[in-house]
Amino acid sequence: MKYTVFDPANRSQRADASEDRPSNRSTAPTIGDVIAGRMNRRDMLKGALGFTAIAATVSPMALAAGRAHAAGSSAFGFEELDATVTADHAVAPGYDADVLIRWGDPVLADAPAFDPRDQTAEAQAKQFGYNNDFVGTVPHPEAPGDDGRHLMVVNHEYTNEELMFPGLDRQDGDLAFADTTRDMVDIEMAAHGGTVIEIRRDADGRWSTVTDSPYNRRIHLGTPMEISGPAAGHPKMRTAADPTGRAVLGTVNNCAGGITPWGTWLMAEENFNGYFWGEEDASAEEGLTDDDPIAADYARYGIPGNWYAWGKFHDRFDTAKEPNEPNRFGWMVEVDPSDPTSSPKKRTALGRMKHEGAHSVVNPDGRVVTFMGDDQRFDYVYRFVTNAAYDPANPNPDILDDGVLSVARYDADGSVTWLPLIHGEGPLTPENGFADQGDVMIQTRRAADFLEATPMDRPEDVEPNDVRGTVYVMLTNNTRRKPGDENAANPRPENAFGHIIEMTAPDGDFAADRMTWDILVRCGDPSVAEVGATFNPATSENGWFGMPDNCAVDAVGRLWVSTDGNAFEDTGRADGLWAVDTEGEARGTSRHFYRVPVGAELCGPHFLNDGEALLLAVQHPGDGDGGWPEFGRTSTFDDPSTRWPDFAEGMPPRPSVVTVTKQGGGVIG
Ligand code: FEO
Ligand code: CA
Ligand code: CA
Ligand code: CA
Repeated sequence: MKYTVFDPANRSQRADASEDRPSNRSTAPTIGDVIAGRMNRRDMLKGALGFTAIAATVSPMALAAGRAHAAGSSAFGFEELDATVTADHAVAPGYDADVLIRWGDPVLADAPAFDPRDQTAEAQAKQFGYNNDFVGTVPHPEAPGDDGRHLMVVNHEYTNEELMFPGLDRQDGDLAFADTTRDMVDIEMAAHGGTVIEIRRDADGRWSTVTDSPYNRRIHLGTPMEISGPAAGHPKMRTAADPTGRAVLGTVNNCAGGITPWGTWLMAEENFNGYFWGEEDASAEEGLTDDDPIAADYARYGIPGNWYAWGKFHDRFDTAKEPNEPNRFGWMVEVDPSDPTSSPKKRTALGRMKHEGAHSVVNPDGRVVTFMGDDQRFDYVYRFVTNAAYDPANPNPDILDDGVLSVARYDADGSVTWLPLIHGEGPLTPENGFADQGDVMIQTRRAADFLEATPMDRPEDVEPNDVRGTVYVMLTNNTRRKPGDENAANPRPENAFGHIIEMTAPDGDFAADRMTWDILVRCGDPSVAEVGATFNPATSENGWFGMPDNCAVDAVGRLWVSTDGNAFEDTGRADGLWAVDTEGEARGTSRHFYRVPVGAELCGPHFLNDGEALLLAVQHPGDGDGGWPEFGRTSTFDDPSTRWPDFAEGMPPRPSVVTVTKQGGGVIG
């Protein structure tokens, strides 16, 4: 078997598995290409940019002020930030944005100082990991009522080798795996996973990490975990290293996540397929085959993905040597941050997919409802409802092992129906390759296909708003949806900029079999007719965005949206955070609050203390794949497009968590 992995074909495979990378441009022109032609933004930028902000070519602030005044009913009162691309990050006037923790900063008390030219896996396993994505907080176990002390939890989704290590260059496509050493692989494995770290508010109102807290913890590929729920012990979960099918080392590609009502942290395993090596089975590419459900299942998840060289040094990531190991990834991992010795648990009742987030709400009847997206083009929106009611006085730590996973069908009449994935019901039978409920969970995608769920434009965060009884669905984009493939809930072909769906639970019942849905906004530049964006006309030139990814509902029920990919489609703006009105005349009005440095996407966001502080995760700053040509698409450790946040010679860009506070204190927004 030969592993000459990273040829251009594999590059596009890596791109296609989830994120909508610019390799798509080589095919038919996207709507973004149309815009680029019409607006000639790139030429505009080339003339004006360098590493400084673009001078506004219109008068957006004046426009915004006038329009906001006309709308009159926005729930937000902050002064808007300019949408542009810069080497530094920026926040709206009147706010401070401070770097809280960076890749390589100490997490454990005995962590060595970060030295990017002398990295080791041992050091990385004690330091803050790479590519921070989900951010959440739980109350401090010893001071649960103290709003100046929290435990912060952070996911480390993936690694960018060319930005982490000196001497690598992806100019001609990608990192050649021939150059990847075992040391690099082991550092990457230690840089994945998650971090628990205590944070405190200082006397000046700013926030810092507590590096000697006994609660601090790094989770990585070496962390022992338990497998629980319907797939635990299943024959397909057993490997040479774990004949029980109940114990697994580590977690990968932890994208978004959630905090449960009982104070645990859910880490979503997203593009797990990319970590597995192997030759692709031609028969698997044919798709679903009744005679070989394993091949069909591999094909449905894109296994092996061949994105990383891990299989070169670790047999369990080589599918030829350990074909069941991929079945042990793609789950929702629950961690108790209050006990640094606890074993994280992969909760298989929540299904196996390219999990994005896991936002929970306690239903009026006490059951816990968790909403989740499966982030791939044409994949689905899911919901898990526990069978038991949550008892705050005596929470059942294993409540997520017992419940019903359902997938969403959006109909043109404005209804959404939740279709349960239960073995033996409907087509989920042995004849179709499902031996038991564990099998249904391991093959969640195939099961949902049989139920004829609605193929969506890449579901990212799905977040309930229990103030309003609604649920917001971030659909980031789908440029592969062809004319004729539209459905009511995904109405745009070649959807380059994504959209946001709002579901409404009847009488606030988030566990109801049926809800209603509506499109809150179709994203993109509203001034370009071909885009078909539907932001409220009160939205300014700075206020619109593309590619919604993560979102947060603040303490008073207002929606905030962070984005991933605006640089790919020439929107004239970096990714960042936007505040979106959902009520009244202002519904669909968006305002720009924060922008990331060039190359980054924005993750989080997470409000704490009733909205007086905001945590943001700046992921992959300086990433050439997400950078503008003006900043250099060949961004590397040695020659990065930005050295944010240190801006020190020789220091590469560092993914970091940022704290935002209002100058003088008060609620953000
Ligand atoms: Fe890791 Fe769906 O973004
Ligand atoms: Ca991401
Ligand atoms: Ca995401
Ligand atoms: Ca994304």
